[in-house]
Amino acid sequence: MGKKVSSSDPDRLARSPGRSYQELLNEETNPVPDCLRENTNPYLGSGNLSVDRYLSREFHEKEVEHIWRRTWQAVCRETEVAGPGDTHVYDIVRFSIIVCRTQEGSLRAYRNACLHRGRQLVDQNGNYEKFSCPYHAFTWSLEGAFKGAPCKWDFPHIDPDRFGLPQVQVDTWGGWVFINMDREAPPLRDYLGVLPEHFKRWKPENAYKMIHVEKVIPCNWKVGWEAFIESYHAVATHPQILHYTADADSQYDVWPPHISRTITALGVPSFHLDAITDQQVADAMLGVSAMVARPDGTEVPSGMSAREFIGVKNSAEFSKNHDRELASFATNAERMDSILYSIFPNFAPWAGFHPNITYRFRPNGDDHTTALMEIMVLCQLPTGAEHPGDCPARRMGEDELFSEAPELGPGLGTIFDQDLFNMPMIQKGMHNVESRELVLANYHEVRIRHFHQTIDKYINGEL
Ligand SMILES: [Fe+2]
Repeated sequence: MGKKVSSSDPDRLARSPGRSYQELLNEETNPVPDCLRENTNPYLGSGNLSVDRYLSREFHEKEVEHIWRRTWQAVCRETEVAGPGDTHVYDIVRFSIIVCRTQEGSLRAYRNACLHRGRQLVDQNGNYEKFSCPYHAFTWSLEGAFKGAPCKWDFPHIDPDRFGLPQVQVDTWGGWVFINMDREAPPLRDYLGVLPEHFKRWKPENAYKMIHVEKVIPCNWKVGWEAFIESYHAVATHPQILHYTADADSQYDVWPPHISRTITALGVPSFHLDAITDQQVADAMLGVSAMVARPDGTEVPSGMSAREFIGVKNSAEFSKNHDRELASFATNAERMDSILYSIFPNFAPWAGFHPNITYRFRPNGDDHTTALMEIMVLCQLPTGAEHPGDCPARRMGEDELFSEAPELGPGLGTIFDQDLFNMPMIQKGMHNVESRELVLANYHEVRIRHFHQTIDKYINGEL
């Protein structure tokens, strides 16, 4: 069983009377990896949260200064900047960063501004031989060295050797490229805490990005983000998934300051429902979830649980993406569950051996009242397989529903539509909270507490 944090007040650690995730893991027939046995179950206090954190421009400015300028943020897949000159532009609030692959094959990240009159140097992703400003053609190499400008005689005061593009930190983990504008920030490896060790088994570096959609959503970025770091809302917002989702018995873990995790078992019914058969569980899950193989032969054999049945189907479907048969070593947890990690402040990769969703949320430009929500799905590749290329982001239309996005399909898309349905109403409703404070659950919403406590540590100079 997992380790549990003790508390003098048992009510603080109260949780659903249903079967815990750790108890469910006891039924696995393949060995359970240590990282899934970790169970921090923290109590982080019961304090309220001010709505000003979501509504006020002043708070947004604090985030700009202390969060966006100082944290590690995922930009793109390494394979999206694989060849010399491959370039990705990462915009965050009012900042823009160029990430590129140099001629020698190393990664560099630069502030996206011409050193002459300040025009943004690169406007879009692509392959560049050099970075030449469209305004007056001041030019830099991929290595950031100044290569000249028209009428050079007019700039005797520029020393070309001291006129290179200012760099920001860049590093990689799990096949992702990260940047950090703070040159004093700790290395990415330290920032990520337990994450690299946990993900070793799932080899995210071998995955390719098969789906990538993004959409402007009408709420503060944290409103969107927080709809994806707790499973508590499933009972009211996503009632159709309860047949196969152990929402109430989700496990929540935090590894301060930057990493947290929710694990929600799938293939088992919610504690909120009564008397659901294994066949009903399997039917509901096979009809909806993107995390399971498509239905064919959906009758659950007698003596087999729905979870075992889905596990067998997923092994058959997804083993081709791996070097070994999943049935020989992978737990059912890693074949179907929602194992959702987050890296502070805004990047959330799922884990396991099935195709995995990854979320990213950012303010929409410098606007704190709207956000950019991204849904990516990554699929692993066996060793030596040809990389099929990463799907570029597609910006969804303002009125386009997720369920209408061909990439997601109606099953998965409907779940995101249900989340989206709440978001503008959360943003609107918060203005009408008379106390100007939000109340959080101790257990199910501990990741939201952890998230805001980390924000405060950055703002207060403790991190
Ligand atoms: Fe949701």
